[in-house]
Amino acid sequence: MLWPFAEKDPGICPDYKYYYNLAAGHFFILTINSAIMQNIDWGKLPFGYFQTDYNVRCYYRNGQWGEIEVSSSTHINIHMAATCLHYGQEAFEGMKAYRGKDGRVRLFRWQENARRMQRSADGILMARVPEELFHKMVKKAVSLNEKYVPPHGYGAALYIRPLLIGTGIQVGVNPAKEYLFMVFVGPVGPYFKEGFNPVTMQIVRDFDRAAPLGTGHIKVGGNYAGSLRASERAKAEGYASVIFLEAKEKKYIDEAGPANFYGIKDNTYITPKSDSILPSITNMSLMQIAEDMGMKVERREVAVEELENFEEAGACGTAAIISPIGKIVDRESGKEYTFGKKGQAGAWSTKLYNKLQGIQYGEEPDPHGWVSFVD
Ligand SMILES: Cc1ncc(COP(=O)(O)O)c(C=O)c1O
Repeated sequence: MLWPFAEKDPGICPDYKYYYNLAAGHFFILTINSAIMQNIDWGKLPFGYFQTDYNVRCYYRNGQWGEIEVSSSTHINIHMAATCLHYGQEAFEGMKAYRGKDGRVRLFRWQENARRMQRSADGILMARVPEELFHKMVKKAVSLNEKYVPPHGYGAALYIRPLLIGTGIQVGVNPAKEYLFMVFVGPVGPYFKEGFNPVTMQIVRDFDRAAPLGTGHIKVGGNYAGSLRASERAKAEGYASVIFLEAKEKKYIDEAGPANFYGIKDNTYITPKSDSILPSITNMSLMQIAEDMGMKVERREVAVEELENFEEAGACGTAAIISPIGKIVDRESGKEYTFGKKGQAGAWSTKLYNKLQGIQYGEEPDPHGWVSFVD
């Protein structure tokens, strides 16, 4: 490798090949030794970034999308006046590829992610990624990195991160004329270290995630930036995540951190309806499964006091699928709400989780046609 790069081992991980950028003064990882493939402990993967071999990219210029490009670089080269850096023209998606017992790799309801990304694009005036382009690029990113799709039986999956950013230059507040859509992937384990064991969450009243008529219903970076202070504080205080309330009246539950909330009472699955929560594809699927299992489903405002009557509660999303909630503490009043037996997920939550994962991993029939194959 030519100057200014030098191979150097900082002694962090023997599986990576590290290079030092002498000019910029920092390390970066360029390649992974093939040995890492044998070293991946599929059962102990965290939920985090994991470098794989390729990502795919496509640029929107002069009013149209170009050709799909494959890259092995982990970096993107963008102009310093790109709108994603200044005015938050950025949206992303989160989805997973699951390997079935038969070895085949499955996507789950990719169309919903494609459509949600279009709604995100519309919401902050970015170019829409056509559904077919989205599908092609997701499939390509997964197949090029197929060896990183965890084997069946470890509860792990290949996380897929589609990302759309404004790359066009603006200094006045205007939408860009150019965009980059890219997809990268990496194997992941459970989102919460507790896995499918109950977590404790904290209701906050001194922070809002999203404004009532703002961007809470779409998946744009600003919402997550806005949630960081509350969620880091909650973690420091010993909680897995924050429960955000609807911002206007502070009476109703909005979201459980980066996941939707549900409660269960009298065989009824109850989940908040609000204009400032992200419509979760996992939640949408759980509502259908709950109905299929004979439960009643209610999507409506959920007042905080109702928590007292819930037999079970959970957070749901692609990352955790379901994270059962054992206890919720209202930070302001100190009031505590507990659900189910200590340390145990509730019966309905367990059934819903097993059914949904069964469909995703191809172990259960797929009556609604949610699963499609990558190959
Ligand atoms: C704020 C927020 N709510 C809910 C979800 C869950 O959505 P999904 O089930 O589509 O992953 C996510 C994750 O994408 C999220 O970031």
